Order: sequence, then C-alpha cells, then structure tokens
Amino acid sequence: MAIYFDERRKTFYLESRDLSYVFRINEHGFLQHLYYGRRIPREDVGFSVALPDRGHGCCLPGSDRRQSMDEYRNECPIFGRSDFRESMVDFTFPNGVVGDFVYDGHKLYDVKPELKGLPSVRGGETLEVRLKDMAHGAVIGLYYTVFEDLPAVLRHAEIENASGEPMKLCRAYSFAVDFPGKRYDAVTLPGAHMRERQTERTRLGHGTFIAGSKRGVSSSQMNPFLAIADYAATETQGEVYGFNLIYSGDFAFRAEVGQCEYLRVIGGLNDYGMDKTLAPGETFVTPEAVMVYSDEGFGKMSRAFHDLYRDYLINPLWAKKPRPVVINNWEATYFDFDNDKLKAIIDSVEGTGIDTFVLDDGWFGARNHDRAGLGDWVVNEKKLRGGLKTVIDYAHSKGLKFGLWFEPEMVNADSDLYRAHPDWIIRAEGVEPCPGRDQYVLDLSRPEVRDFVVEAVSRVLRENAIDYVKWDMNRALSEIRWHHDYVLGLYEVFERIIGAFPNVIFEGCASGGCRFDAAILRWFPQIWTSDNSDAYARTAIQYGTSLCYPLSAMSCHVSVCPNHQTGRNTPFASRAAIAHLGATGYELNPNNLTAAEKAEIKSQVDEYKAMEGLVLGGDLYRLHNPVEENLFAEMLVAKDKSEAVLTAMRPLSVANGESVILYPEGLDENADYEVLPQKIVRKGATLMRAGLVAYFPFGDFGTVTYRFRKA
Ligand code: DGJ
Repeated sequence: MAIYFDERRKTFYLESRDLSYVFRINEHGFLQHLYYGRRIPREDVGFSVALPDRGHGCCLPGSDRRQSMDEYRNECPIFGRSDFRESMVDFTFPNGVVGDFVYDGHKLYDVKPELKGLPSVRGGETLEVRLKDMAHGAVIGLYYTVFEDLPAVLRHAEIENASGEPMKLCRAYSFAVDFPGKRYDAVTLPGAHMRERQTERTRLGHGTFIAGSKRGVSSSQMNPFLAIADYAATETQGEVYGFNLIYSGDFAFRAEVGQCEYLRVIGGLNDYGMDKTLAPGETFVTPEAVMVYSDEGFGKMSRAFHDLYRDYLINPLWAKKPRPVVINNWEATYFDFDNDKLKAIIDSVEGTGIDTFVLDDGWFGARNHDRAGLGDWVVNEKKLRGGLKTVIDYAHSKGLKFGLWFEPEMVNADSDLYRAHPDWIIRAEGVEPCPGRDQYVLDLSRPEVRDFVVEAVSRVLRENAIDYVKWDMNRALSEIRWHHDYVLGLYEVFERIIGAFPNVIFEGCASGGCRFDAAILRWFPQIWTSDNSDAYARTAIQYGTSLCYPLSAMSCHVSVCPNHQTGRNTPFASRAAIAHLGATGYELNPNNLTAAEKAEIKSQVDEYKAMEGLVLGGDLYRLHNPVEENLFAEMLVAKDKSEAVLTAMRPLSVANGESVILYPEGLDENADYEVLPQKIVRKGATLMRAGLVAYFPFGDFGTVTYRFRKA
C-alpha cells in the first residue's frame, strides 16, 4: 500500500520507496500540507507546523487569531480566505467569488482513473480527496498518484460545478506545493526556435517568479518543466523537486516567496487566457502534473522522469523498441525534389544500415514552397510521377521502410481547402488573422474540422504502405486567448488517427522542438528535438531536454556542413556521436558527402546499433554542461550495469591546454570493465575515481566515445 490514511490524525501518507508526501485535514476541514521529501516513518509530523504570531493578518472566523491560512502550507490554496499568496483555483459565481473548500470525503483507487480528454501517465495507486465549497456547492477533487518504485507524485484536479448556477473559472491549476523555507533556485528550460531548452538557473526572491507559455503550444520559448532546487544542489547532490506538465498548450508555473519565508509553487493551465464557465453539473479536468523528488541532485531527478515516462507514459508498443534509423530528405532537397532525386538518395544508403526513408514537406498539393498547399493532402503528381506509390515501392524494393511528413493542423490561404472553407481557421471577428509561416491554424475545437483532418490523414495512411509519420506544426496560435479547446481537439485527433494505425510510428515535430512535451510523448515515442542540427548547438539543446525527457524521446540527425542553421563546420564523426545520444538518423544527401564520409555511414550506424539499448532504456549521467564549460559529456549505463557508453565533446580546441579527465559515473564499483578503445580492464571503482584522460582529436568540436563492458 503506497497510500495510507491515519484516521486518528486525519493524515494522508503517500509513499514510494524513497519518498513521502504527507498532508492532513486540519481542525477547520482544510487540507494542510505537512511534508514532501525523502521517505520518513508514518509518524505525526504536525509538530513541524510553524505558527508565528501574526495577529494583524486575517484569520478564519472563530479561530485563534494566529490561525491564518496565510501561515499554512496549503494543499489547495484558494483566494479570499486569509491566504493572500498565489491561489491554485479561482472562480466566480453570480453571487460571490469566495468559498470555504473543506474536506468532504476521499477515495482510493488501485489504478488511476483516466483523465477525460487529456493524456496522462498510466496506472499507479491513486487517492482522490474531495473538497466542498460550503458557500456555493462547487466540488474540487484533488488526485494524487504514487508508484512504489519511483520518487514521483502525479497530481491533477477536477472541478465540478455542483451548484445550480454558472461557475466562471478564473484559474484552475493542477497542483500547489508549499515548501518550508526559501533557499531555492528555479531551473527552467527557456529558448527559441532552433535554440530550444537552454538550461537556466534563477535565484528565487520575494514576489512571484513566472514561467509559462501563452502561444497555444507548450513552446520552445519555455518548456513546461520546472525544477526547484536547494541553493547548493548540483548534478549529483542536494534536494531537487522537478515538475512537468502533461500538456501541450498554454501553461504556467508560479513560484512565490511570501512573508512567512515559505515558497509556494503552483503549476498547470495558464490562467492568462482562461475563459471557461462551467454550467451546473459540468466538470473541468486540469492537465496532469508530474512531481519528482531527488535527494541526489538533478541527475537522479532526470533518471526518475526518464523511467516514469518510458515505463508508464510512452506508448508501450514503441517505448523501448528499436526505432527506425532514418534518412530524411528535408535538408537534402527542401521543396526541390522529384522521383529521380529521391531515388538517388534511396540508392545512396544501400548497405549502410539506414532502414527508413522519410519524405518530408513538399509532396502534396501545390506545395513547391511554404506559401501554398497546406491542407491539400493529395500527392502532387507533377512532382512525383506515378504518385506516392512509386517512391514507396522503390524504397521497399531497396529494403527500406517508408515515412511521410504531414502538417495536419494547418492550412495555407493558397490551398483548395482554404478556398472551400475559409471559416475553418482560428480567427477573431473583425480582424484579419495573423499569418505565421504564411499559414493559418485549423480550428480543431470544431468537430467538422477534426473530422476532416482525421479523414485526410487516415486516407493517405490507408491507401499507402506507410511505416512512419512525421507530424509537424509550424506556428503559434494568435487572435484568441483561450487555446484549451484547441488542445483538447488535437488530443482527440491524435487518438483517432494514431490509435487506428498502431503499427505506424509517429514522430512529433513543431518547427523542431516547439512542442516537445510529455503529452506529445503519450502518442509520439520520439520528437524532432530541434530544427538546429548543428552538433555543437545540439549538445546544449539535448542536455537541457534530458533534464526531463528520456534520450529515446529525442530525434537527432546527422546533417551536412557548413551546417544549414549556424554555418558552422564540425567533424562528421562528431555529428554522428552527438546524434547517437537519441533516436538517430540522417538529414542529408549522401551523394553530396566526400567518399570518406559516405563510407563512414555504415560504421556509424553499426556503432549506434551497438549502443541503441542504452539509448532506449539506460540510465543517464550528465558529466559536463556545455553551457557552463568548454566541455560536454554524458554517460549512459545499462540498468544492470553490464555496459555503458560515455560521449564527450570539447567544443573549442585549446593550444597547449590542460588535460581533460572524464570521471565515469554509475558503474558497478566492484565489477571489472573492459574499456574501449583503450582495451584496458579495470574495476568500476578505479575508473570512476581515477578517471579517463580524454584525447580529443585535433581541432574544434572533436568528440571522444568510450565503451565499457563487464569483463
Ligand atoms: C519544420 C520541421 O522542423 C523540419 O524538420 C521540416 O519538416 C520543415 N518544417 C518542413 O516544412
């Protein structure tokens, strides 16, 4: 039993092997948070509640003057009842805006009930605590899920308008956690298109720190991930609390240090554009929030996220299955291709181990550039003589699987679809809609638009032997503020299409990594990490992404140099080494490589295949952060510690520089490991403490890779 209720103390204990999360029903019926951290015995922790005398604040009616909600750590803070910090839920009824939400019962589930209309982590013992609004009759169900083997708590809320009047929701976050003390940093993953998920650490002071998105997508500007870390926490030491939202739309995290010198963190749907009125009897479900606790720094936090997502979130059909090693034609041809060009690319990878050819943007409608054609999902036979079938058959005849690009959520003004249904896009009355990459967003909150998208994509998948789909999305949502209905519509579309084609692997993409989130991972086992395929730029992007998401979720390709996004030259071997830290592939025309590079592809794919199991299921240890040092290093270790691989890049070459010594982590101290390429055998303890001298190749952006195998 991971969830235990102590009837006498009115206290809930949520436990996993390494974690306790404790709260109680206090004397007023409110839920009062008591503890979240490393596992402790099931004892009374009420003694840890501090109540400094602040008699000049507000207190609850009939209570001791010191009993202000402003002093408490609250499980579900609501504005207006003496707690003046950030609230988790706000609402308005025609006759009032506040209410006392007090305990009204609880329920235990062996397995978490699914969240209606929203993706979530599978399984887990679950507690539902019901709070009832004494003034209006609204009900909040707080849900908590725990797993025996993982230091994680899942939370979401369901708000039911059990009154007879309309209830306007002003805020509906998924969780609130109050931390005793204020010595915390916030670690976030901000960025931009082609510069996604850069790690940033900010000291939290008094007032509210906000990180979020208002773009209708989880966004490259800020990922729905937040870590709250002790000032002293490092990669390997100290307390870190990770938060991630299983949601692809507008989100916000708010972290407030208040007068009690406590930190409150709330997170969920961004209330900025909240526009939801619940009719009597209607229920609103918030996205699921994942909370992970680590007492050993960021590394342990990330490994817990990775395990949780690989074991309980990503489609089990694909989660740990070898992924296609693709050759994608986008950077090779952009829109300028025909049958012959594609055949030449297909021919060029024969015998390399690349097993899937992916035809990117430009195969349909009048899509000869990015200003036309989106929405017309019919092959452009002027470009591809004989239709898709000729390319697909040719790829299959060469032993390759076939993948196809779509951007189903969008339409160009210059398209048959837009000419027929100009009213299907997201727009506001009386204003001309803002184009983004010359395209508009189809309004997926409308059932007829969803039906069109489902049928348009499904028809192509039914009529053709397609093994792989790259699902792109290349703009933010403008004109309207409330994007949640669009996101719900999108999830329905995913379910209907992807659910109907379980043997097709779907890769997520949104201008690269502009929608890289855990909700997408529910259906798409991998996501194109960034449109930036420069190996050096990728070290920082992949490092940041790995804080929360497993390497198997990151699609990473080798491309040509000078790199198309940065103009930088990096060694071919380095590009492969960095692309091997994810679901690898190629994004180039091998016919444009030097003979030596072309010949290298086969050995690169062989090397990847040899470490693929580690990418799919290993434990990640980040050794060096390229944002902080002239060094990047990551290590992957098998769960049974039988093998490992360590990859490092020294971005800038240093003349007469210091020796770089890399200290492996995660090995079995007592086991003998053979180390390649050194061909030495040493104990894990020796390797981890004495380290390995890294002999980087001469020049900038050189990489080294070491392999460890139990002797
Ligand atoms: C953006 C994607 O990230 C690219 O990989 C490519 O598919 C283009 N869109 C195609 O338009």
